[in-house]
Amino acid sequence: MVKNSNSSDMQQQSDASTSAMIVVKLEEQDSVKSFDCGDDDLNDFILHESPLYRKEKLAVTYVLKEADDLANEHIKAFFSLSNDRISISDFDSKTKYNRFSRRFNNHKRLKSYPAAKIGRLAVHVSAKGMNIGSTLLNFIKRYFTADNKTGCRFITVDAYAAAIPFYLRNGFVPLNEEDADEPTRLLYFDLNDLDED
Ligand SMILES: CC(C)(COP(=O)(O)OP(=O)(O)OC[C@H]1O[C@@H](n2cnc3c(N)ncnc32)[C@H](O)[C@@H]1OP(=O)(O)O)[C@@H](O)C(=O)NCCC(=O)NCCS
Repeated sequence: MVKNSNSSDMQQQSDASTSAMIVVKLEEQDSVKSFDCGDDDLNDFILHESPLYRKEKLAVTYVLKEADDLANEHIKAFFSLSNDRISISDFDSKTKYNRFSRRFNNHKRLKSYPAAKIGRLAVHVSAKGMNIGSTLLNFIKRYFTADNKTGCRFITVDAYAAAIPFYLRNGFVPLNEEDADEPTRLLYFDLNDLDED
């Protein structure tokens, strides 16, 4: 089960037979000692780039690890988040945008809608296929609905082609058809599709 703690950290308690797993926000001074998800760009981001993104307030990175891994030597997965929006310019025609906007009350149809972007998400090679990625997606969805401080309706991601089935399996949908054959594809999840607690 995934819970939000009262602190800025997010906590996940694994079942009683294993040690506690936590999701922790990386601070500017925090570094990750080792990580391998099989993708060089994503590895480079968590090992070298994430503190710079944090310093410049461009993205915040969270890691999933055992609670006693203070030096971030064995992290299981990470994701980074930034503010985003879905706007009329993301669609190839006004008709498609109007179709997308039908989910909103007539008086609340805007030229853009607030979103949070998953900039990066990766699971360690040794932990893939164990539902960790899906658990983190559920965590992110709940993180924005449980304490929606600023108004955030959608989660977006520019998904790697190879990871698209993973996101579709988790309720994300393509925004349009134009990028169907591109190396990455813009997908979104509507937070109003979550069951209310
Ligand atoms: C993509 C990734 C995050 C998925 O995490 P994970 O913990 O392995 O995924 P899960 O175990 O939660 O998988 C959930 C479902 O998605 C499917 N899935 C996961 N990765 C998949 C892939 N690459 N292709 C097709 N299906 C995939 C699983 O089979 C599973 O489906 P099932 O429940 O029907 O069996 C992980 O494989 C990864 O880190 N890949 C390398 C980095 C990457 O591509 N990141 C995404 C950047 S946009």
